Amino acid sequence: MENIEQDIKKVLFSEQQIAERCETLGKEITEDYAKTGRAPLVVALLRGSVPFLAELIKHIHLDIQYDFMDVTSYEGTESIGDIKIIKDLDTSVKDLDILLVEDIVDTGKTIQSVNELMLHKGAASVKVVTLLDKPSRRVVDVKPEYVGFEVENEFVVGFGMDFNQHFRCLPYVGVLKDECYQ
Ligand code: IMP
Ligand code: MG
Repeated sequence: MENIEQDIKKVLFSEQQIAERCETLGKEITEDYAKTGRAPLVVALLRGSVPFLAELIKHIHLDIQYDFMDVTSYEGTESIGDIKIIKDLDTSVKDLDILLVEDIVDTGKTIQSVNELMLHKGAASVKVVTLLDKPSRRVVDVKPEYVGFEVENEFVVGFGMDFNQHFRCLPYVGVLKDECYQ
């Protein structure tokens, strides 16, 4: 069996850096929602956001609930708002404040579509927290409220993020060696 660590060219964010950043983000989120007196429904997008969700919620000191959604964009379509729901929420979002949890915001299409969907279903508000943000790749006008780290235009793996479903279990975020893409 292959050791996946040998495919990593460089580590961008270590396990400790991620943990520290999640603590800070959790505090900010706690303070912001505490002001409103309403705890959000945390909606995590499968599958990449799971490790981030787990680390983040340790530091959200509110009576939150969380639920999961899995969406994908229709192949070959470039249109916004056109996403296929693989797994829908079990919870109604009506009149709730939604905090979407993403692993990485790239073009922004996924988060924009889910955002619109939540509002369409009657959510009172929608905010986004993402571990990583790749603003240079954006094609739609979305700006996550809470960002762990900004990254360059480079494909990253680890801490939930995959390349062909592999590398999700790495405890850090890194970049693959070039030969891995061949
Ligand atoms: P967007 O709709 O283009 O913003 O794409 C968001 C989704 O694409 C993320 O939730 C990831 O699943 C995936 N993605 C984008 N960039 C990367 C990357 O560098 N590594 C792993 N997955 C990525
Ligand atoms: Mg994703």
